[in-house]
Parts: sequence; structure tokens; C-alpha cells
Amino acid sequence: MQKSGSPFRGSGGKVIIIGATSGIGRELATIYAKKGYFVGITGRRNELLLSLQNKFPKNIVTECFDVTQKENIPHLQTLIQKLDGLDILIYNSGYGDVSKTLDWDIEKRTTDVNVNGFVEIICYAFNYLVNQGYGQIACTSSIASTRGNSMAPAYSASKAFESIYMEGLYYKAKKLKKNIVITDIQPGFVDTGLAKGNGKFWIATPQKAAMQMYQAIKKKRKRAYITKRWWIIATLLKWMPDFLYKKIG
Ligand SMILES: NC(=O)c1ccc[n+]([C@@H]2O[C@H](COP(=O)([O-])OP(=O)(O)OC[C@H]3O[C@@H](n4cnc5c(N)ncnc54)[C@H](OP(=O)(O)O)[C@@H]3O)[C@@H](O)[C@H]2O)c1
Repeated sequence: MQKSGSPFRGSGGKVIIIGATSGIGRELATIYAKKGYFVGITGRRNELLLSLQNKFPKNIVTECFDVTQKENIPHLQTLIQKLDGLDILIYNSGYGDVSKTLDWDIEKRTTDVNVNGFVEIICYAFNYLVNQGYGQIACTSSIASTRGNSMAPAYSASKAFESIYMEGLYYKAKKLKKNIVITDIQPGFVDTGLAKGNGKFWIATPQKAAMQMYQAIKKKRKRAYITKRWWIIATLLKWMPDFLYKKIG
């Protein structure tokens, strides 16, 4: 693996994608590798990490770990060492399920991945980039962050946590006067194993979602809706009065 020797843009940049074994993250890793970036990918399913590395042996390194366990930072440090640096970190790991009867196992697993794992990894990455003086952090939150949802309360709340946390880091980076870009990615429906339930519309392929995500990160957007037209749904949800929202929320 070569050194990028450059700020955090373009071919040769060093990107870590937390949660790249399947779905959006795997497609995003493929895009970065094809474009000549050096990519560190993570997830719990080692065989899927290795199969992607086998496709791009010169561009991809792997680190297999579960973000709900205790070794997140040592794993992240190892991956940064394997890449010999870090320009962009993307927190894409996510879990969610319908919790119709408010199932504690679902609620706990959701917050463990989307809140506790997220904040530990993002906190380390932000401080690493502050110390370095430049870089970018992105997170795959969700349109679900816009309002509370009765069918998946922990999922919508955890995605709101991610989104609001990213906004906090955006202003923190400005106050520190550091060249650190913060990007909050909010997908609508994407056709992956995570998307469950009926009534899905405007559903994007993981390939299309990943390409729009790549472009938003490259353009250093503060927030991006995936696909782009989902900003309409986000705006409608945000301003929908309770008497209407209670029928769908
Ligand atoms: N699909 C949608 O409609 C949609 C909409 C809005 C937002 N999103 C968000 O998009 C992101 C990617 O999801 P996806 O739709 O691509 O689904 P996915 O195919 O299920 O991908 C989820 C990724 O998260 C990783 N992950 C889950 N639990 C983990 C854990 N405990 N430790 C480490 N990694 C873990 C998975 O890796 P392992 O299983 O190998 O650990 C996998 O790589 C998620 O944050 C999700 O909330 C998805």
C-alpha cells in the first residue's frame, strides 16, 4: 500500500468504512477501490470482508470486529496502521428491526450498534483528525432520524442521535478552525437486508445509493439525502402536524 501524501481527496486517499460487508457499505467500498483509494473495511463477517479484498487486493485491507464489543479502538488503530494513515472515516454499521411489542433485545442491539459503537468510533476518529489537522467523517444515518417511529422507536431515535451528533461535530470542527469535513448521509429506502416491512417506495439499489453517497462525500456536503428526492419526504415529515403524523408514525 502506497502513502497518499496528499490531503483527503482523490485517488490515493485513505478511507475507512465501518460496516462494509454487505449492502450500501460494500458497494461504497467497491466504488472507492475502483477509483484508486486505499480502503479499510470492517464488519463481523470475515468471509465477506476477505471476498471483497480478494477482488481488490492492492486497494483493500480488512479488520474484522463487532462494534458492540470492547475492542473498537484497538481494531481501528490497527486498521489505520494497515492503511498507513486516515483521510476519511465513514460509520456505516447499522442495525434496526421492527419492535412491535417493544422488544428489549432489539432496542438494546440497535442502540449498541447505532449509538454506543458509533460514538466511540467517531469520537476517536474526530480527535485523530483534529490532531492531524485535516480529514472527513461521514455517517449513514437515515430519513428515519426525522421523527419518532412507533414500530422501531430505537432505530429512529438512534439515527436522530447520529444525525444530531454529526451536526455537533460540524460546529466543533468550525470552532477549532480545522479542515475537518462532517457529512451526514440520510438514505430513504435502499434495497438491502436491513430494509424490512411493507409499503416501501422510491427504493434505491445499493449501487445507486452508494454512488450518490460517494458523490456527497466528495462534494463535502454537510447533509445529503439518498436518493436525492428523499429531501421532499424529510421536509414533509419534519413539518407534518401531529394529527396527520400519528396515522403513519
Ligand atoms: N437499507 C435502508 O433502507 C437504509 C435506510 C436508511 C439508512 N440505512 C443505513 O445504512 C447503513 C447500512 O445498512 P444497509 O442497508 O446497507 O444494511 P446491511 O446490508 O445490513 O449492512 C449493515 C452493515 O452494518 C454492519 N454491522 C451490523 N451490526 C454490526 C456490528 N455489531 N458490528 C459491526 N458491524 C455491524 C454489517 O456488517 P456485519 O453484519 O458483517 O457485522 C453490515 O456491513 C446502516 O447504518 C443503516 O441504518 C439503511
